Amino acid sequence: MALLKVSALASLFVFLTSLVNSATAVANGNCFDAVIPVNITADNTNYKLTLPKNQEEVTDLFTRFTSLTSNVTTEIDGGTKTIKATYKIWTSLCIPNNQDAAKTVELAVHGWLQVNYVEAALKAGHAILIYDRLGTGQSDKPDGIAEVQVAAQVEIAGELAKYLRAKPRGNQFDRVIGVGHSFGSAQLVGLARKYGNVLNATVLTGFTTFVGGTGTAAAAFGWTIASVQNPKRFSSLPSSYIISEGISNSQNVFFRFGGYDPAVLQAAENTKATSTIGEILNLFGSLSPVTDYTNPIFIVTGDKDYILCGGNCYQKVDGVNLLESTKGIFPRSRSFRLTSRLTPDMAITFT
Ligand SMILES: *[C@@H]1O[C@H](CO)[C@@H](O)[C@H](O)[C@H]1NC(C)=O
Ligand SMILES: *[C@@H]1O[C@H](CO)[C@@H](O)[C@H](O)[C@H]1NC(C)=O
Ligand SMILES: *[C@@H]1O[C@H](CO)[C@@H](O)[C@H](O)[C@H]1NC(C)=O
Repeated sequence: MALLKVSALASLFVFLTSLVNSATAVANGNCFDAVIPVNITADNTNYKLTLPKNQEEVTDLFTRFTSLTSNVTTEIDGGTKTIKATYKIWTSLCIPNNQDAAKTVELAVHGWLQVNYVEAALKAGHAILIYDRLGTGQSDKPDGIAEVQVAAQVEIAGELAKYLRAKPRGNQFDRVIGVGHSFGSAQLVGLARKYGNVLNATVLTGFTTFVGGTGTAAAAFGWTIASVQNPKRFSSLPSSYIISEGISNSQNVFFRFGGYDPAVLQAAENTKATSTIGEILNLFGSLSPVTDYTNPIFIVTGDKDYILCGGNCYQKVDGVNLLESTKGIFPRSRSFRLTSRLTPDMAITFT
């Protein structure tokens, strides 16, 4: 486990304090926004792909990528390319008015939709760090093929976990819990695989290890060049930044009809985040067993999750449902828990 030296953390901290650009009082606590320079070394994939010239090229890439017996992943795999970079990551560290006795902080890692439960975490006495994933929001937006990939995102999550252990803004935390959603959960699995018990517990929401439905879901997004889909929001992004085409695509992959308020679907559509070609081509990283993580895992996934369960989490693999079978990649976790029952009528989105 590559722990940052104390002196490096101290200087990082001094630097950070100077970058804090706002503090806001929220229900049950206060949030401090800061743009943090995060240094990483990541083993990305050297994709043999050039920047798409137009939407037809992007559509063709995903048609071939999601075809049955597709060979695209092999065709474009140019081996490992190590990325050494410093990225500016937008963060918000929220501190509760009444911190719990265990001094818990949550590291929240988002997927494509912004699901914000900061006030609930603060009410429970937990501090929480939220951040914009590399390539989204107010964080840096480097090359969407070579740089913004899951391996880089895993390293960034790891650096932020170390940051939380180094008394950020003078706050001592004794328990760092990772809470991922969807693609964010995949990043936390990558973190546990590479750095073992860097988190004291991991909550994976909208997650299983089943890949039988991912091709259908990847097609259902209708991946569109972000600057084409919404020039108002994304005109500055290169064509390696992609997003679902429209509201029916969002409904298809994230919502189950009858199980949501239509205003929530519309709000999700209006605020949806981009992804990149580099992320989608290897979304879940490796799904082989995580051998160095022994801390607890808690999985919360809707019963009709379209991306991770192909729309039905009750289908069985090796005699158990898809959530239970996910235990297979955490053979050494000392506590593996699932929601007591699969959350009914839910696709991937929940509050
Ligand atoms: C991050 O990288 C920059 C530029 O290489 C360097 O100046 C800085 O000291 C590094 N920060 C940490 C915390 O290692
Ligand atoms: C992938 O490669 C195999 C073996 O060469 C070939 O049989 C198959 O048709 C290819 N699939 C596609 C979608 O081109
Ligand atoms: C949390 O994890 C850190 C790093 O592995 C460890 O030093 C610490 O003892 C753990 N805290 C608790 C409460 O288990």
